[in-house]
Amino acid sequence: MAARLAQLPPTGRTRNPEFSPRPLPPRKPLRFKPMRRIYLDHNAGSPLRPEVVRALEELAAGNCGNPSSIHMSGQRARRELERAREAVACAVGAKPSQIVFTSGGTEANNLAILGAVRGRGCRRVVSSAVEHSSVLAPLAQLKREGLEAVLLACDSEGRISASDLRLALGSATALVTIGLANSEVGTLQDIAALGASVRQHDALFHIDAAQALGRVALDVGTLGCDLMTLSGHKVGAPAGIGALYVRDRSIVEPIMLGGPQEQGLRAGTQNLSGAVGFGVAIRTATKLLAEEAGRMGFLAERLWERLREEIPGLRRNGSQLARIPNTLNLTFPAVEGETMLIALDLAGVEVSMGSACAAGAVEPSHVLLAMGRSRHEARSSLRLSLGWSSTAEEIGEAAARIVGVWRRVAQAEPAGVREAAQ
Ligand SMILES: Cc1ncc(COP(=O)(O)O)c(C=O)c1O
Repeated sequence: MAARLAQLPPTGRTRNPEFSPRPLPPRKPLRFKPMRRIYLDHNAGSPLRPEVVRALEELAAGNCGNPSSIHMSGQRARRELERAREAVACAVGAKPSQIVFTSGGTEANNLAILGAVRGRGCRRVVSSAVEHSSVLAPLAQLKREGLEAVLLACDSEGRISASDLRLALGSATALVTIGLANSEVGTLQDIAALGASVRQHDALFHIDAAQALGRVALDVGTLGCDLMTLSGHKVGAPAGIGALYVRDRSIVEPIMLGGPQEQGLRAGTQNLSGAVGFGVAIRTATKLLAEEAGRMGFLAERLWERLREEIPGLRRNGSQLARIPNTLNLTFPAVEGETMLIALDLAGVEVSMGSACAAGAVEPSHVLLAMGRSRHEARSSLRLSLGWSSTAEEIGEAAARIVGVWRRVAQAEPAGVREAAQ
């Protein structure tokens, strides 16, 4: 065997001397029409607005230092930071001194909840079962620390009733924390009614407005809140920047300890480029609010109508009347939402499931479960969220692709899934 192996030609390219190849004609490059991707996940994060990209390029060219430094580069940075603060304050009817920059909506919610409750003697916090995890997790932490966290139930549209809130409030309530617009189904809460109940007690009122920003007008005076969370990447700023409106500095204690930045409420060097991007994005979103909200609402309705015509049994979740205009949460018949999501991604349509992926298993959305949907319905639901960059052409194309994907996935799903949908 060893001898035979030794006779084999050496590895690598060998030439057949009898074969003299004719030169091949130049190969034409293969032309694929790249599939246009359609982004329908603005509630997870909107792409950077062009105005923001330009502002960040200018900032990068401008040699800014640390906003806390005394030298000229530091002063330049301070001016940019304060301009951004003014823009954020102006967008929500606040004073610049009432805006604390944070690393995002999550940190703003943590600061509002932990910072407002730990400093007070009261032992109770009231919230709802449909809040974002960045509200529910600090509440769970407070519970572990021995406080009482009451979660109000919602109706089938995701709305909380003011009478339920009145019953839950008592003299021991330190804080009421409610999301203005639900991130998964888009339902808007009746903040005026809820706030009126809170004001009858000595509790602070925090609103998580991360998903409402840029979609409905926000004014802290009209909303009557003490604290309000904002997030930059929902309006076309970079991710990693947010803000907390704080009516009066004395109502919150810092949760991040260190330097004296942000009036001592949030230690750490500020994210200057994030804040500048946020300032530009929020200014643009506020200027274009009526136009963008009208367009998003029109396109979302058109998408819903097209899908409803073609997919029998398709169901829309959330309030039909009180909602942000850009969000559609849909329960698809006879399919698993996760399978649909992956097939849609392959077809170039990017959507999401409003649920956490824990240990490889998709958990059904806690919001849909709280609204009374079954676990199966919750698992068959997808969130489609439009934004500033969505166009009519994209939405027409998305509708066609979604219908096609649903037909294919529904046919291929195991019988169990199809039966569960009936
Ligand atoms: C309602 C709500 N609150 C808070 C957050 C957290 O914001 P961030 O991603 O900026 O931390 C989100 C993010 O999706 C949200 O939807």
